[in-house]
Amino acid sequence: MVDVLVVLLGLLSFLWLLLLGGRRRREGEPPLIQGWIPYVGKALDFGLDSLAFLKKNQEKYGDVFTVYIAGKYMTFIMSPLLYPSIMKQGRQLDFHEFTDQVAPVTFGYPPVRSARFPDMGDQIQRSFRLLQGDNLVTLTESMMGNLMLVLRQDFLGGGKRGAEAAGKGWSTGGLYDFCNSVMFEATFLTLYGTPAQARRHSDMATLRHHFTQFDNKFPLLVARIPIWLLGQTKAVREKLIRYFLPQRMLYWSNTSLFITKRSEVFEQYDALSDTDKAAHHFAILWASVGNTVPATFWALYYLINQQEALQAVRQELHHVLQLPGSQDPREPEVMISKGQLDQLVFMESAINESLRLSSASMNIRVAQEDFSLRLDEQRAVAVRKGDVIALYPQMMHMDPEIFPEPQTYKYDRFIEDGREKTDFFKNGQKLKYYRMPFGSGSSMCPGRFFAVNEIKQFLCLLLLYLDLEMEEGQEEARLDNSRAGLGILLPTKDVRFRYRLHCAPA
Ligand code: HEM
Ligand SMILES: *[C@@H]1O[C@H](CO)[C@@H](O)[C@H](O)[C@H]1NC(C)=O
Ligand SMILES: *[C@@H]1O[C@H](CO)[C@@H](O)[C@H](O)[C@H]1NC(C)=O
Repeated sequence: MVDVLVVLLGLLSFLWLLLLGGRRRREGEPPLIQGWIPYVGKALDFGLDSLAFLKKNQEKYGDVFTVYIAGKYMTFIMSPLLYPSIMKQGRQLDFHEFTDQVAPVTFGYPPVRSARFPDMGDQIQRSFRLLQGDNLVTLTESMMGNLMLVLRQDFLGGGKRGAEAAGKGWSTGGLYDFCNSVMFEATFLTLYGTPAQARRHSDMATLRHHFTQFDNKFPLLVARIPIWLLGQTKAVREKLIRYFLPQRMLYWSNTSLFITKRSEVFEQYDALSDTDKAAHHFAILWASVGNTVPATFWALYYLINQQEALQAVRQELHHVLQLPGSQDPREPEVMISKGQLDQLVFMESAINESLRLSSASMNIRVAQEDFSLRLDEQRAVAVRKGDVIALYPQMMHMDPEIFPEPQTYKYDRFIEDGREKTDFFKNGQKLKYYRMPFGSGSSMCPGRFFAVNEIKQFLCLLLLYLDLEMEEGQEEARLDNSRAGLGILLPTKDVRFRYRLHCAPA
């Protein structure tokens, strides 16, 4: 398969060379780094180890340089001290041009910002507000119910599987698999709602399986490898999309306002087929679980690995909820309000720390015109229309000057004197941006509050009800770099853990 790609890219690069002959650096432009295979440029180096690649170039060329990657000239801004200035130049730097090129081919819907769909892009943007503010309170309540439902029935002694688990003392499982099965379904139920006659969709495991198959190919799709080159991926994507056809969603109840509103928006456009509408809903499924599941995995993994951290976070939880030592899951459910979740600063710091360690998203802007990009008071660089400006916050997250011992998980790294710590420095200057797992500026992830909330809820329930330990004799989880640039990295392979009811006698 890879061979086919290489041949194809080789062919494209030959044509490219013939037609355009590369480009030459002009006066005032940043240093230009082009590979020897023109079309592929430095994509292969970048893909192999993006962090090392960028670091090497930063040492050689300084904080700003342009690399030719997979058909795009990308200017990387390496120093976080320059980030605020980039974010201020939103007028000349557009985010949606890029997503509108990538998302439609990845998820299979027609480009949003076309004349066929007047105002639809703006309506979609407005729908994102329904993930925040007052709506977040409703989403949080609903998520709590759904998490309890899935956890109880499958793991805590409610349903059959759960009862077995509860009876036996310790149960074991794959940690990623566990996080995935609970978070995927609870998030799905919260956003899309329940089937007509039941509390849970019967085919969730199949949906999740197809989702994983698609997600494994996601980096290749984003790299614009045509889907027909990717084996079963097209058929799998069609199945995933069909799940959201309007005639099916019609029968779902307790659907979130966010999804309901989006359905209403799509109904206004005759030019959208039912499959197109379904593909939009599928894209939101990816956005809502694609990063959240691995983020949940890392949050839980680091806590279980460091029992002192886990105990400290559990203690804070009991303190905020004013609970005695442990909870019996057969008791009426604990309610944890949005306000209480907000008070859990140690837990929040632990989550932020795991995001710092596992996120590798690239923030991309497209230059709307030839212009001079101001870097700071002294410096500016020339940028051409269509060029990409890229921030790569993982560089900052792993900078030992900003975060001492950057490879080490410190659950309370973002706490000082019991409150959130917000002063982090580079070259003696206080940083405005020091943690960016959710992107930046106008394109920041609209689901970030919901995401952190749901991870907190998940951790709360686990810490209240379960003892959790890693199984001995296995390697540590490592980051799989194959989706560097695209969000939260997955572990290279799953790790085994064990759990039992927290209230069970020792
Ligand atoms: C830990 C979990 C999550 C992470 C790390 C994450 C990260 C991101 C990032 C990096 C972006 C692109 C922003 C940019 O380039 O500046 C993004 C966009 C987006 N995210 Fe998230 N996200 C998470 C969870 C969620 C959830 C739970 C939802 C929805 C319920 C969501 C909905 C979206 C949407 C709709 C966009 C596109 C925004 C646009 O087109 O303007 N995300 N996310
Ligand atoms: C809808 O949600 C409410 C509150 O979360 C719950 O009480 C009710 O049972 C749900 N309805 C259905 C059909 O699932
Ligand atoms: C954690 O990160 C979120 C979002 O990035 C931020 O709003 C919050 O204040 C942070 N909390 C702590 C304790 O670091």
